[in-house]
Amino acid sequence: MKKHICSPLIGLAIIFAAQFPASAENNQKLEVFSWWTSGGEAAALDALFQTYKRQYPGIEIINATVAGGGGSAARPVLQTRLAGGNPPDTWQTHPGWELLGQYVEAGYCLPIGDIYKSEGWEKVVPQQLIDLLSRNGKPYAVLCGIHRGNDLWYNKKLLDKNGITVGDSMSFDEFFAACEKLKAAGITPLAVGDSGIWATAQLFENTLLGTVGPDAWKALFSGKMSFDDPKVKQAAKTYGRMLDYQNPDHSALTWDQATKAVMEGRCAFTSMGDWAHGEFTKANLEDNKDFGWVTCPGTNGAFIIVADGFPLAKGAPHSEAATDWLKSIGSKEAQEAFNPLKGSIPVRTDVDKSKFGPYLQWSMQSFSKDALLPSVVHGEAAPAAFQQALNDAITQFVVDKNAEALSAALVQAAKDSNIAK
Ligand code: BGC
Repeated sequence: MKKHICSPLIGLAIIFAAQFPASAENNQKLEVFSWWTSGGEAAALDALFQTYKRQYPGIEIINATVAGGGGSAARPVLQTRLAGGNPPDTWQTHPGWELLGQYVEAGYCLPIGDIYKSEGWEKVVPQQLIDLLSRNGKPYAVLCGIHRGNDLWYNKKLLDKNGITVGDSMSFDEFFAACEKLKAAGITPLAVGDSGIWATAQLFENTLLGTVGPDAWKALFSGKMSFDDPKVKQAAKTYGRMLDYQNPDHSALTWDQATKAVMEGRCAFTSMGDWAHGEFTKANLEDNKDFGWVTCPGTNGAFIIVADGFPLAKGAPHSEAATDWLKSIGSKEAQEAFNPLKGSIPVRTDVDKSKFGPYLQWSMQSFSKDALLPSVVHGEAAPAAFQQALNDAITQFVVDKNAEALSAALVQAAKDSNIAK
């Protein structure tokens, strides 16, 4: 009798299992896709994983990374997966054009307003940030931290030894005077690691902002000012002048290897987002003692935002685990563990600020009062086609230093990507 009752149930179970292979088991996994592979980046990512494991035990994390700063190698891999209907559960992305234009528009992400509500984030995440992630009033990603793109880092001991003092801000003239002094002393003034071209494109981005200022920055990326403007050409010339002071092996180095050249005193300065601070932290170097920082020349009072977020994939293989991941990275605990290692500031306003060192305190201050601007190099200010055209034009510029040609390429890119009206 017993046999008769059980066997149809077992049969049903077998049919069910065949139709929905290991759905329960699958939910014990989570695939997180990112390009966080440098020393500082990997340590910070691990802090997110450890926090998640504490908050949601028993889930196996698949750490899907594709090396290459700025996501230059990761994004094409991701695009292929998304287009092929094989999404990771969640992936690293920047707000603005990258998230909304590339992923939300194409239907790859689900809206997550219900998570914002259940976690009470509307009270602790500034609305201005939520807006950067939202389409038609619905948020599509959770930010784990905010980087500042326009920083100039330096080896403090090396500058002290050469009698160079950096104040609270730096003009282009002061920067070039320091470079001349260092060069005369036989020291390479500027470290660049543009084996991924984005790193030198970012040096141009910072120089452009330092030359045109925040209002013109907004005007350029909303089509109200042309890239043919004399100020853009002036920025290109200044950038070209900076390249005269860079390390000869720049094209063989990654951004973190360039940062290392500064740490080790082989070069004095590097212009890089504050993920470089994650490298200093990883190497146990001390703020204001071993290294220092200042806003990139001319950019005092402006903060280029490079924020990192994660969306929920439509068709996520492990959607429950992915939802928990988003809840976790937005939690106070995760934000306090991740950001001091990553070199970014938290998104939440209710974190314990004492957990953040001098640089990050400074960056938080800057964020609270400075002009906040999107980065073009990190996919926020303009469509991907513009970002690509900029990288191509910079690749050419590094060789020929032709300011007219760079400006003309950007004019064309603005037209092609519908920035220019
Ligand atoms: C990301 C950072 C990352 C940097 C270098 C940026 O696009 O926002 O999180 O550390 O690239 O890889």
